[in-house]
Amino acid sequence: MKKRTNFFKSLRFRILIILIILGIVPSVIVTYTMLHNYQDRAVSMLTETVQDQSEILCNLIIKENYLNDTGSQTVNTKLEMFADLYNGRVLLADRDFKIVGDTFHTEEGKTLLSSLAVKCFKGEKASNFDLKSKVLEVAVPVQSPDVQQIQGVMLMTISTIEIGDMMAELEQKGMMLIGIIVVLSVFLSWLLSTILVKPLARVTKAIEDLTDGMQDDAISVPDYTETELITDAFNKMVNRMKILDESRQEFVSNVSHELKTPLTSMKVLADSLVGQQGVPEELYQEFMGDITAEIDRENKIITDLLSLVKMDKKAADLNITHMDINQLLEDILKRLRPIADKRNIDLILDCFRPVEADVDEVKFTLAISNLVENGIKYNVDDGWVRVSLDADHKYFYVTVADSGMGIPEDSIERIFERFYRVDKSHSKEIGGTGLGLAITRSAIAMHHGAIKVFSKEGEGTTFSVRIPLSYIAS
Ligand SMILES: Nc1ncnc2c1ncn2[C@@H]1O[C@H](COP(=O)(O)OP(=O)(O)O)[C@@H](O)[C@H]1O
Ligand SMILES: [Mg+2]
Repeated sequence: MKKRTNFFKSLRFRILIILIILGIVPSVIVTYTMLHNYQDRAVSMLTETVQDQSEILCNLIIKENYLNDTGSQTVNTKLEMFADLYNGRVLLADRDFKIVGDTFHTEEGKTLLSSLAVKCFKGEKASNFDLKSKVLEVAVPVQSPDVQQIQGVMLMTISTIEIGDMMAELEQKGMMLIGIIVVLSVFLSWLLSTILVKPLARVTKAIEDLTDGMQDDAISVPDYTETELITDAFNKMVNRMKILDESRQEFVSNVSHELKTPLTSMKVLADSLVGQQGVPEELYQEFMGDITAEIDRENKIITDLLSLVKMDKKAADLNITHMDINQLLEDILKRLRPIADKRNIDLILDCFRPVEADVDEVKFTLAISNLVENGIKYNVDDGWVRVSLDADHKYFYVTVADSGMGIPEDSIERIFERFYRVDKSHSKEIGGTGLGLAITRSAIAMHHGAIKVFSKEGEGTTFSVRIPLSYIAS
């Protein structure tokens, strides 16, 4: 079943948007900068041409002394022609800003009010382009080459409609270009985003194939480093799950085997009683005693299994209370003393300081009892088991040391496994299930603690447990 996905949340959509923006924004900026530059250049070229031609006109005006006598026909015609050529107006003023010539013939005799003209009298050429009205104003000083003094000013107002038209046309072309770029970049981005996210889709497909059982070894999508990392991590997880599954299967088969063994013994014992006639009473007694022992054993295995299953449940099942640990240990030892006494084993409790901590009483007691019980069970007659308690500001420490048979080096790694026993025949005679240490370790882990074991064959074993004084739920 394909899951419906939200396209707008997809990586592909994001790549698409980024690529489109990367395509469009620069092209818009470039187009508009170019248009603007073109306008600036067109205006400045026009200004220069007008200035050059005005200078020629100014020379003529000086030569004809036009500023004092406007009778010169040559100058008048030239001025008209000039105004016509640029579709504009020429104003000529003398040193007192009095207008002596106007191609529109409306301002003659009036005073010229123009900041450009004022600038011009300081000896500079001045021009101004009004973007809104698209009107170009150019002012040129009238000055004879031999006399330095400025005698007048010529002000031209020129319409730049042609530049405007050209600009409009260019702008239209620019818009078209942008349009084409938009379409192209959308298309290319679509294509590129599809190609870029394809390996991710391949990862999904590979995982789905594996889930559906269409493929059963490790998946591999080496297109990108990232997809390689994802698939590697995924393969690791699958392997872990495989191992977990195997260990679960092994556990189930172990459990079945362990539960069947006492049943088989009982069946053999019962069969031999049923199959014989006139069985002497003593044999009855003996076999029934054996059957009872097997029932006890079966019972113990089931009890241990239930404890273990409880430990496997989540930490929410912990029933944490603030407890006096010294008292708890004392109680544990008191309960186990009768068993120790049977083999004349000394049970010693060493408390270095009073300790109070957050523990689940039942689980903690079970964990420590199992250790002490082992210390007694795997001990020599007249031996000792020493339990000690100490603490620092963060943890408390319980060690259970014994003078027993010790654990062979190659078995130390495995003693916490479920059903593992160092010497099956020996352990059977001692009567263990192989579940005790597994329960202990789970219980300690639930308290966020740790357990370590040191042992030397023939000399003894020490288990040391470390548990935080205060329990912090995680
Ligand atoms: N204090 C100890 N001294 C020697 N061997 C031990 C000790 N504690 C545990 N073992 C070994 O580790 C095995 C696993 O212990 P445990 O899980 O408690 O199972 P069991 O039910 O056999 O006691 C035991 O069978 C025993 O061989
Ligand atoms: Mg045990």
